Amino acid sequence: MERIITPNELNEDIGKELSLRPEKISEYIGQDKVKERLNIFIKAAMKRGEALDHVLLYGPPGLGKTTLANIIAKEMGGNLKITSGPAIERAGDLAAILTTLSDNDVLFIDEIHRLNRSVEEILYPAMEDYALDIVIGKGAAAKSIRLDLAKFTLIGATTRVGMLTSPLRDRFGVLCAMEYYTEDQLTDIIIRSAMVFGSKITEEGAREIARRSRGTPRIANRLLKRVRDYSEVEGDNVISYKEAKDALELLEVDNRGFDRVDNKILEAIIDNFKGGPVGIETLSYFIGEELGTIEDVYEPYLLQQGFIVRTPRGRMATEKAYKHLGRKIGNEKVIGEQKSFFKSEE
Ligand SMILES: Nc1ncnc2c1ncn2[C@@H]1O[C@H](COP(=O)(O)OP(=O)(O)O)[C@@H](O)[C@H]1O
Ligand SMILES: [Mg+2]
Repeated sequence: MERIITPNELNEDIGKELSLRPEKISEYIGQDKVKERLNIFIKAAMKRGEALDHVLLYGPPGLGKTTLANIIAKEMGGNLKITSGPAIERAGDLAAILTTLSDNDVLFIDEIHRLNRSVEEILYPAMEDYALDIVIGKGAAAKSIRLDLAKFTLIGATTRVGMLTSPLRDRFGVLCAMEYYTEDQLTDIIIRSAMVFGSKITEEGAREIARRSRGTPRIANRLLKRVRDYSEVEGDNVISYKEAKDALELLEVDNRGFDRVDNKILEAIIDNFKGGPVGIETLSYFIGEELGTIEDVYEPYLLQQGFIVRTPRGRMATEKAYKHLGRKIGNEKVIGEQKSFFKSEE
């Protein structure tokens, strides 16, 4: 089943995301630390008349990495070439891309942790010396020649910075950690998106969507679109607090932005593993969700929001999680509390 609150790009987002994507750094809301660092490096590079140092953007999906790469390319006045780790199969594919770049161009490699080793090795001299080492011939007759490349900027994006090899990570001059957005920032993003869509919305309506968007602009925009559809059918075409709340409840996105799976994770830890600690593999097996999905998508937000904590022996539920599910610590259920999605499904 496709989750409405997945931070990964869904088919329904494509096209719409293009029109919603901010094009200037001034339209890019939030990520102040990242913007400040980039501003300094961009200004310095322009002043020296050099290419911007290679940039690594890392953090959960949907937080604006691709958008930022676009903006950086524009600021540097270069063209942007977009590819991704899994799309580059052979070293020759990457070599071919690199030779088409001009000075100040930006090469964006999404999911850069998924590059295979032989492809990655082409990148080392390209990043360090703007050079391409090519081996011609075979066996004893083989010789290596070096081709010069243009002074380009590599922007790598990854959701798993820990999976990058250290030789690759060390070749980035600018490392930027993307953060979840605050409710205020998401409210601004939603209001801006509603304007792009030509939809009417109240501040309270935008805030209610923001509250349930898991700190993620991609989710905020998707929820806005769903709420707008609801409002067109059920309401008066103005997205108010009540309409936002009713629509999102219908979509089973709760007041924390959690869906069934989040609640299932919390319930499993509390009800089946006495609040933890429980290993992530056990948890994944128990609730029947892929380990990678739990690690990339669910866990980071539950951790960031303080509903679970990581300990050396596994994950534990916090008091916040007990409260959210209406459980008493010590595993006594509170009578009369609303049942969660997971339980009511059974
Ligand atoms: N800082 C921001 N301000 C406004 N909109 C944003 C911002 N960051 C992301 N978005 C919106 O969220 C969508 C997803 O962003 P994207 O750059 O594709 O995320 P990522 O590459 O990190 O997965 C974009 O289409 C854009 O509309
Ligand atoms: Mg992206």
